[in-house]
Amino acid sequence: MSTLYESDPRTQWFRDAKFGLFIHWGPYAVIGRHEQARSRLQIPQDKYDQYAAQFNPVLFDPDEWVSLAEDAGCRYIVITSKHHDGFSIRRSRVNDYDMRRTPYAADPLKMLANACARKGMRLGFYYSIMDWHHPDYLPRRVWERNRSAEGADLNRYLDFMKEELRELLTDYGDVAFLWFDGEWEHTIEEMRSLETLQFIKQLSPNTLVNDRLFKRQPGNPADFGTPEQYVPATGVVGIDGKATLWEACMTINEDSWGYNKYETVFKTERDLIRKLVEVVSKGGNLLLNIGPMPDGQIQDEFQTRLKAIGRWLKANGEGIYKTTASCFPKLPFWGRCCVRESALYLHVFGWPVDRRLRIPGLKNGVLSASLLADPCCALACSREGQDVLIQLPEQAPDEIASAVKIQLDGSPEVLPFEIQPDSDGAIHLGVEAGELHTKFGQQAKLENVLEHVFITNWNRPQDVPTWTFTTPAEDRYRVVITYAVNGKETDGMGEMEIPALAHYSIRIDDQDLPGKAFSTGRLWVFKSFEVGEISLGKGQHQLQVFLTPGPNGETMNLEKIVLEPIDQAVP
Ligand code: GLC
Repeated sequence: MSTLYESDPRTQWFRDAKFGLFIHWGPYAVIGRHEQARSRLQIPQDKYDQYAAQFNPVLFDPDEWVSLAEDAGCRYIVITSKHHDGFSIRRSRVNDYDMRRTPYAADPLKMLANACARKGMRLGFYYSIMDWHHPDYLPRRVWERNRSAEGADLNRYLDFMKEELRELLTDYGDVAFLWFDGEWEHTIEEMRSLETLQFIKQLSPNTLVNDRLFKRQPGNPADFGTPEQYVPATGVVGIDGKATLWEACMTINEDSWGYNKYETVFKTERDLIRKLVEVVSKGGNLLLNIGPMPDGQIQDEFQTRLKAIGRWLKANGEGIYKTTASCFPKLPFWGRCCVRESALYLHVFGWPVDRRLRIPGLKNGVLSASLLADPCCALACSREGQDVLIQLPEQAPDEIASAVKIQLDGSPEVLPFEIQPDSDGAIHLGVEAGELHTKFGQQAKLENVLEHVFITNWNRPQDVPTWTFTTPAEDRYRVVITYAVNGKETDGMGEMEIPALAHYSIRIDDQDLPGKAFSTGRLWVFKSFEVGEISLGKGQHQLQVFLTPGPNGETMNLEKIVLEPIDQAVP
């Protein structure tokens, strides 16, 4: 991916936009069981066609959809033109598996494109390379015995795909993106990805293309990366180690992109707003998904959440849109930083108990500091060593995320942030000062309750909180971990109600501490446990906590780890 992205005029609007709405819509909405219902339920083609014949979005109002995106603060929309089922939700000249199979007379994509054009909303098209309907696409699903693959020719399919792309790029106005997916069954060569990219560039040079056309391989020529269902720990870098353009896509519900009437778990407004801030602070965009109902309505759970994000962005958007990634690798409080020229926007999630916001290692002079919510009221600033301290009011203006704007005397210049021992020599590793390394399907997240900031919803081994810290001298430390446990476990009676079968362990550099078993509690009673002792040399260290899941889906609520010096350090 282009590493000169910071100055590329083609992608400028995308870098400024930060927030887009993803829409997964097609005949699968009729079934209401996930966009991959055809495969997951092993529905034969002729049966699936009957659902397609019922796709009749009589209540679809494209202006309402675009207004919803606007109200949410989204600056662009990406909609599935064709998902894995091969169905094109438009009227095509080359794909006869399209809206002509339905009672609906019009072309929903054209209607949406027109509404977007009217309202100045950018629009892009998702396109699945994998196609479970086209006779030439290979391979067939393993269970699909009655659909012969005889005479099928993947190359002929790719020619067809190009013609579909041509229609998308010429009949629907300006196309902001082609957002490819369903690439995993073939190599880049088999898919003729470079040829497709060149074809797109010729027809529509400003259309941005995502990295899935190139199987997300490092160094690929696409415009942006697409981490899915997680926030990368430290943003996304290319093979040269430089930051690249990326967009995290995420569902509002648990894991259905298409309409799923059986999904009952939805991310909270606070979680979604904080995720948006986190993504933007790491230099990315957030593409948040909705799966409209088959009749064209959008369920309330999506609407209320999108509108809540929009309300937050109305008040705080100055610190989101057109910003660049944080200039701080880490902050000592729970929050995130976005930068806009010589202004810092510190989005504070956890209001500091002492009401002092510490900005670490800031070399610049501070011209002014204020809350975005109350710009006229100047906040007092002082210096403490290399840090700047901002005096905050008693109450956070927004319980979810409050933005503090700091006007500097020039472009931000900061010293590298290092976690160091406090005056007693203890090293405090709070979850806010670590990085949560996670992968597809992220569940673990930071939360706060009263004065505690902690990782919650953590029950997968692939989620690994990680800290980097520095010790001034060789020393021996007692490792003490604090997490919320089952209330029963804390009353001193010994017995626990729930068998503790999940457990965690701690790795410091290459030394392992076995940790303990834990159970899931309904109470958030934070308790500290001594895990063991460890010797550490002078210098930089890494500490990670690993989780071995138990059979009951136990979730760990980790607040912090403290390394207490045992002997007096001799510097
Ligand atoms: C995954 C899903 C697919 C969905 C896509 C969105 O690849 O399998 O159904 O469209 O995510 O990024």
